[in-house]
Amino acid sequence: MEITLENLTKVFQSKKEEETVAVDNLDITIPSGKLFGLLGPSGCGKSTTLYMISGLLRPTTGKIWFGNEDVTPVPPEERGIGLVFQNYALYPHMTVRQNIMFPLENVKMDKQEGLEKAQEIADLVGIGHLMNRKPKQLSGGQQQRVAIARALVKSPRVLLLDEPLSNLDARLRLQTREEIKRIQRETGITTIFVTHDQEEAMSISDEIVVLREGVTQQVGVPQKVYDNPNNLFVAKFLGTPPINVFDGRVENGKLYIGDADIANYDAPDQEVTIGIRPEGFKIVERSSFKVDVDLVETIGRDTTLIIPHPNDETQSFRAIVDSEYGVQPGDKLKFNVKPSKIHVFNKETGELV
Ligand SMILES: Nc1ncnc2c1ncn2[C@@H]1O[C@H](COP(=O)(O)OP(=O)(O)O)[C@@H](O)[C@H]1O
Ligand SMILES: [Mg+2]
Repeated sequence: MEITLENLTKVFQSKKEEETVAVDNLDITIPSGKLFGLLGPSGCGKSTTLYMISGLLRPTTGKIWFGNEDVTPVPPEERGIGLVFQNYALYPHMTVRQNIMFPLENVKMDKQEGLEKAQEIADLVGIGHLMNRKPKQLSGGQQQRVAIARALVKSPRVLLLDEPLSNLDARLRLQTREEIKRIQRETGITTIFVTHDQEEAMSISDEIVVLREGVTQQVGVPQKVYDNPNNLFVAKFLGTPPINVFDGRVENGKLYIGDADIANYDAPDQEVTIGIRPEGFKIVERSSFKVDVDLVETIGRDTTLIIPHPNDETQSFRAIVDSEYGVQPGDKLKFNVKPSKIHVFNKETGELV
């Protein structure tokens, strides 16, 4: 089920005069059968967008399409959506089976068929052996799977997940996100996954949108957005460790940080902001980009070098290099920078130069 958001806007009116534009003119097409990540910092309008898609919130202006159907006036229960929240919201006094079957109560389905459907979905999400337990007797990850099963039992057209992993500890979060990916693949159901965690969104989404203050920043395949950020906000929001940011300038077709000549760059002379991914540095014999290594962190294959920032010695930046170089704290190095790892932004607007 392809979902189209057309000029979708939500303005919240609290007391007189006070307006919050939570979602600002979104125009997004969410591809059918894919897992789509809605990503951005807290308060950027992710939940508001999801609740408008679900029908729990009405847009101020704009439309929502499920395929060719304008669902904007359709109430939530008639949209064919399954919704999962951060806090699983299971009924504590009911068993897993009763929780999963709850949405079937107001559906015409005979008891046996309902039981079979519930078992099938429970097996799919990997909790088929826990049907007689109460939520209290389950781990957080298992509870979240019950919530997902409950959302899937009516075979919705769209699955909507709002920060579904936030309440889980790190290990369970990793495991459950892979599980969600598997369930999505196996069911082929169009899924929108809301998170503020860029790594989470990047790792499981077929496509992502990055939102900032209710406004779309960029839409695309996660790796493509990472490799080609449209602006400084997106460049900084994606990636761990984050992109390094330098004051620099374009001069006579070259890019400089201080006196260091970083790359050729075809743009008019100007002051710019330069983003360089930590994996963009190469240790070389000759270069004007000279650094002193402060600290060295080696984790497995990668070594992270922590280096005084050329614009401000009290700050540092990070370069990830192969551990085979055997770099030691105090070493003096010269760097080349891989052109594909350099991003140049307008100093005022943060837009690409
Ligand atoms: N019911 C509401 N009334 C007023 N403002 C709201 C309401 N719900 C959300 N907001 C505001 O809208 C903005 C977006 O909120 P939300 O969609 O919850 O963000 P996110 O899910 O990305 O953290 C925030 O500034 C939030 O304070
Ligand atoms: Mg939210």
